[in-house]
Amino acid sequence: MTISRGDYERAVSVIRGQTPFEPRVGLVLGSGLGGLADTLSERVVIPYCDIPGWPQSTVEGHSGQLVFGYLEGKPVVAQQGRAHFYEGYSMQQVTFPVRVMHLLGVQTLILTNAAGGVNKDYHTGDLMLLSDHINLPGMAGNNPLSGPNDPTFGVRFVGMVQTYDRALRKLARDVAERVGVPLHQGVYACVSGPNFETPAEIRMLRAIGADAVGMSTVHEVLVARHAGMRVMAYSGITNECFDSPDIDMETNHEEVLDAGKLIVPRLTAILRGVLTAL
Ligand code: HPA
Repeated sequence: MTISRGDYERAVSVIRGQTPFEPRVGLVLGSGLGGLADTLSERVVIPYCDIPGWPQSTVEGHSGQLVFGYLEGKPVVAQQGRAHFYEGYSMQQVTFPVRVMHLLGVQTLILTNAAGGVNKDYHTGDLMLLSDHINLPGMAGNNPLSGPNDPTFGVRFVGMVQTYDRALRKLARDVAERVGVPLHQGVYACVSGPNFETPAEIRMLRAIGADAVGMSTVHEVLVARHAGMRVMAYSGITNECFDSPDIDMETNHEEVLDAGKLIVPRLTAILRGVLTAL
């Protein structure tokens, strides 16, 4: 089923019925990383279930509400939890919130996710700023921009070279250095999930240039760039990826959520610095 502009506008008018807040920055907070939204001032909270068309997340670690408020004096809207393709939503449904944020006036979208560390130098608790991505579901035909193009949002063929805003990346790295939080910069590989990767898949991802792997973000980035939003994204490295089947280890969602607790304070320090400078 194609989602049309009227569907996004209905969601916007329900939100507008609850708050006149005009956010300029959108935050998407991934698995175990939602805590940042609790620190916004003058908060207005709208549960996703109150917004028509908004996909509900069924995953533990995603609380499912939209939070408006100020972060370092800047008007922001934060998605506390997101829906994923592997939950059975279409790519258009998964990215529904991005177009709603765009229509609410968001010009800069900051996305976060939990990711596995593919790069051997990455460790649990590290942060990676995305410089680029590899969209495996997209390359296999699952792309939110497939289907008829709505030119009121953007062009048919979106350029992807200037995806992760260079000025914002420089700002993030300067802030990270100033606040003393180590920040990698690398390539995020998007997979569909919900299973974690096999060791052979991890070796393949490493060989094609991925530094981190996760199940989100990239589809939202495509829709945001289609609409001309500036984009910045971070992976919290929640687990090591195992590249051999001959070890007594397994990847699991609990370690992903546990590592989130380690990552939130570091991410918060960087994002506060970035928001101050925006
Ligand atoms: N693989 C894919 N997605 C993830 C991982 C992982 O290892 N960790 C957190 N999200």
